[in-house]
Amino acid sequence: MSTSEPAITTGTARTHRLRIVEVVAETPDARSLVLEPSPESAPRFAHRPGQFLTLRLPGADGPVARCYSLASSPHTGEPLKVTVKRVAGGYGSNWVCDHLAAGDEVEALPPAGTFTPGSLDHDLLLVAGGSGITPVLSIAKSVLAAGTGRIVLLYANRDETSVIFRDELRALTAAHPGRLLVVHWLESLQGLPVPDRLAAALAPYAGREAFVCGPAPLMDAVEQALRTLGAPGGRIHRERFFSLSGDVFDTPAPAAATAPATDIREGAATREATGAVTVELDGETRTVAWPPSAPLLDALLAAGVDAPYSCREGACSACTCRVVTGEVRMVRNEVLDDRDLADGYVLACQALPLTDRVEITYS
Ligand SMILES: Cc1cc2nc3c(=O)[nH]c(=O)nc-3n(C[C@H](O)[C@H](O)[C@H](O)COP(=O)(O)OP(=O)(O)OC[C@H]3O[C@@H](n4cnc5c(N)ncnc54)[C@H](O)[C@@H]3O)c2cc1C
Ligand code: FES
Repeated sequence: MSTSEPAITTGTARTHRLRIVEVVAETPDARSLVLEPSPESAPRFAHRPGQFLTLRLPGADGPVARCYSLASSPHTGEPLKVTVKRVAGGYGSNWVCDHLAAGDEVEALPPAGTFTPGSLDHDLLLVAGGSGITPVLSIAKSVLAAGTGRIVLLYANRDETSVIFRDELRALTAAHPGRLLVVHWLESLQGLPVPDRLAAALAPYAGREAFVCGPAPLMDAVEQALRTLGAPGGRIHRERFFSLSGDVFDTPAPAAATAPATDIREGAATREATGAVTVELDGETRTVAWPPSAPLLDALLAAGVDAPYSCREGACSACTCRVVTGEVRMVRNEVLDDRDLADGYVLACQALPLTDRVEITYS
């Protein structure tokens, strides 16, 4: 790592240091980092296929947060791996590709995200564009290794040189004949993947639950194609890539800190005149005050609950939890889809209480 650039600084209570075991040049503009947590941190890095890490990168004005999906599968015994594709003019992706080498360490928040299949035994349709292959590959490998589902993967790229994981996909197809079909879509040969042409390609698989990750125009086109084919919206899951803007590593004083945030476990102090939320997290159940104007996440942090989060902008899903009883409303939601909402999932960083008593779970 160059010393003339901002250096990795030692982190926060929320981050864990991961050793970079290997850097793999996947394509001319994409690098994979193979990562190893310390034995103490390893349990926090258990993950589900399709989840992402948030890396803490050094910036001129303080740490910069960038999310990278895990391309590795938790079901194959392989080490953690993220793959970063350079974005023209982008800071974080180019910093990672230019500066990190085997033997370095990088800080990261534990895995998060809801772009993950409910079952590995269902047939799935996966669609990826460019670096959007990372979570999709993790899902495909997991289904093939630990489930019984069949996979069709449509993978769109500009041209042949930009296809990440080509050899790995070829090997997977050979190892699982009849269970994995990879359809490459090269814009240089086939033109842009527009809805009507996608509909023709995807028609035989439109009944399957779909996981789509790539540039917004591709995801829009795929959704439009699948809806034209009669696929219900709730079965189409999208993962949107974007850059976090704030410093998600420091825990700013939560809004609820100024409001009563007494831990009101049974028998503890009397609750102030405010609502309360009972939260189940990591096998522990606590009840804490939840002032009406405070986002749920702030109320939990103010009471010392180690609730997960990343962007605090309603955009990444790291803070997702499920309402068991009571009602909440979300100020902003860019990630949960209709099916998630119907299942009671909410973003803690955006949730405000509508009832005096709410019970939520992170399990
Ligand atoms: C859940 C999730 C998973 C992700 N997984 C992956 C993954 O697996 N692999 C991957 O490669 N990426 C992934 N990303 C995207 C990644 O987090 C970054 O957004 C990406 O690497 C670009 O970051 P950057 O710092 O290089 O670009 P940024 O510096 O954020 O810039 C992005 C774009 O904005 C432009 N820009 C920047 N500043 C300005 C400005 N002031 N005015 C105008 N334009 C500007 C840049 O030119 C560039 O085109 C993921 C994102 C999320 C949310
Ligand atoms: S922390 Fe990102 S959506 Fe809540």
